[in-house]
Amino acid sequence: MPVPVVILVLTSLLSSVASGDPQTTLLNSGCSQYNATPSDTFLATLNATFADLNATISLSNFSNFATSSQPRAITSVYALLQCRTYLSKADCMTCFSTAVNKIRTCGAANGARVIYDGCMLRYESNSFFDQGTQVGNTQLCNGSANGVEGSAAEIKVIVQDLVEAVPKISGYAAAVEKDGVYTYAQCVETVTRSTCQQCLQVAQGNIDNCLPNAFGRGIDAGCFMRYSNVRFFETNQTTDLTPYLKSGGSSKKGAIIGGVVGGVGFLALLVIFLLIKRSRDAQTNRRGSILGATELQGPLKFHYKDLKSATKDFSEENKLGAGGFGDVYKGLLKNGTIVAVKRLAIFETSRAKFDFESEVKLISNVHHRNLVRLLGCSSKGNDLLLVYEYMANGSLDKFLFGEKKGALSWKQRHNIIIGMARGLAYLHQEFHVCILHRDIKSNNILLDENFQPKIGDFGLARLLPHDLSHLSTNFAGTLGYTAPEYAIHGTLSEKADTYSYGVVVLEIISGRKCNDMNLEHTAQYLPEWAWTLYETNEPIALVDKSLDVDEDEAEEIERVIKIALMCTQSTVAARPAMSDVVVMLLSKGGSLLEPTKPTFIDAGIRSTGDTAYNYSSSASGPNAAQSISEISAR
Ligand SMILES: *[C@@H]1O[C@H](CO)[C@@H](O)[C@H](O)[C@H]1NC(C)=O
Ligand SMILES: *[C@@H]1O[C@H](CO)[C@@H](O)[C@H](O)[C@H]1NC(C)=O
Ligand SMILES: *[C@@H]1O[C@H](CO)[C@@H](O)[C@H](O)[C@H]1NC(C)=O
Ligand SMILES: *[C@@H]1O[C@H](CO)[C@@H](O)[C@H](O)[C@H]1NC(C)=O
Ligand SMILES: *[C@@H]1O[C@H](CO)[C@@H](O)[C@H](O)[C@H]1NC(C)=O
Repeated sequence: MPVPVVILVLTSLLSSVASGDPQTTLLNSGCSQYNATPSDTFLATLNATFADLNATISLSNFSNFATSSQPRAITSVYALLQCRTYLSKADCMTCFSTAVNKIRTCGAANGARVIYDGCMLRYESNSFFDQGTQVGNTQLCNGSANGVEGSAAEIKVIVQDLVEAVPKISGYAAAVEKDGVYTYAQCVETVTRSTCQQCLQVAQGNIDNCLPNAFGRGIDAGCFMRYSNVRFFETNQTTDLTPYLKSGGSSKKGAIIGGVVGGVGFLALLVIFLLIKRSRDAQTNRRGSILGATELQGPLKFHYKDLKSATKDFSEENKLGAGGFGDVYKGLLKNGTIVAVKRLAIFETSRAKFDFESEVKLISNVHHRNLVRLLGCSSKGNDLLLVYEYMANGSLDKFLFGEKKGALSWKQRHNIIIGMARGLAYLHQEFHVCILHRDIKSNNILLDENFQPKIGDFGLARLLPHDLSHLSTNFAGTLGYTAPEYAIHGTLSEKADTYSYGVVVLEIISGRKCNDMNLEHTAQYLPEWAWTLYETNEPIALVDKSLDVDEDEAEEIERVIKIALMCTQSTVAARPAMSDVVVMLLSKGGSLLEPTKPTFIDAGIRSTGDTAYNYSSSASGPNAAQSISEISAR
């Protein structure tokens, strides 16, 4: 079958075509499941970004493509707008307006996309301008089956030619009109030629599967393809592909496909088909189905030297504190944003560095208002830096037993207790990977300017070499807070975090450090003391003397003490999941189960081996004996 391609050279896109059809048929849309915080700052940044895109496409020398980025904003935004090249400026702007209205329905989602026949708009919190084919790429077949004019094989040839030619065409787009069939392909302008080609190959597979339907579209993050037997662009918008095709181009391939198919040609086709199918399967079988929304994307990379100067070369004066994973410094970025920079101290091997990259990627995708947000990272040699949002009020321990002791009201403390539970429940159950914190303690709970609690340092414990992950309390786990089964046997589950949470709640109520025995007249660690008071029916005696509580509050506090004691029970299975804790905290009435006795590890007597751990149970009664033997039996 000869293929005399009748194509007119595209003369100019710049002259405006009489306003026709903005092609606002919605093909695909989605919102990221994570919300950006703080949302009002984010929404303002988003507005500025849309205005920026609008300004670009409104220029008199009209362009059908625009990007805008606000990478250094606390709530970074990257956005991209692309109109089909055959749209007039007026149609492009109309399509953009429609897209903006639609994408705003995602609220403060940190990523979203809308794809129309005429244009595509997408934003994310990380840069995605180089993305080609993505998980979630899809086909949209429409119209009557066998409705296509001309033969399916012929359309496949045109599609194949587009895959070959478009990556070579400046602007990455081409429209072809032939025998009453209209075909169009386009890549995002910011991808590389090979990314464009790969994306179009996937789209080709999607399109080919639509044949012989009357309409077909291949939809992806980095490219778009469409054919139809109804005109959707003017004849004067078409492109002559011949210069971009290898000699012989389409007519040769047309002959192979259209003619009597020889064994070799058939085999070759079969192989190509299988290859395409395989690559498509590989693309679609990966996790998730949201087309290129902010799911697991790389963290923002900061320049090392920017962070070095932001922290005044990691000066003592800028040091906010020291933790198990390294020192933390206050940093002032060039744009005026204050951040906290953690300089990790534990990485020497290349494996650790590899883990670092993947872990940081994971952590930077955790967005919850009760979890400290990781903004990005930086590395230079073995120096690995993590950049976090800055928490104006520092860590909770200061307000419980440090310089600001007694400054928090019960209302504020109660709010912190609930927020911590929410943050942990999110890490355990709502984020798509269960993240165990392993080192919940009052100095890992940070407070923002409104005393909203945010849990810090999550995810990092997974980076520790396995032999350090328990028994060495400098790293994961801090004695006094660590669940006995984890400290002794390294048995880890989310209930270990529940235990530590319970201990911190007791600290918040009592204003007393969990492993401090020297306070007041009792020679007991906090959980034991709390248990003793609970058993003797005077739990209120636990409450921080600096708190002035009324009767209603006292009732609430008693309930919270009981919940904390449920969390510190020695029987792992008896401890509630953090999502249950949230429910118990928020339901005013309703009876609670009776907690059983906690076990507490004596931090002072530990030395090298398991057996040297000592249990400071004030050890009378069957409960105590039972819990100790249960632990040893594991
Ligand atoms: C963003 O723009 C929309 C529409 O113009 C407006 O309703 C909204 O208040 C703006 N939001 C912010 C935070 O400026
Ligand atoms: C459009 O015009 C502006 C100034 O009028 C110029 O800065 C810009 O480079 C031009 N863009 C293109 C794509 O020609
Ligand atoms: C883009 O700017 C024009 C004015 O230049 C305005 O009429 C239009 O509403 C804006 N569109 C959006 C989506 O903001
Ligand atoms: C699919 O076809 C139906 C009817 O043929 C039409 O109403 C609808 O708009 C089409 N959808 C697309 C995306 O073209
Ligand atoms: C293309 O054709 C349409 C209608 O046939 C006409 O309105 C438009 O001005 C033409 N555009 C160019 C760039 O020649």
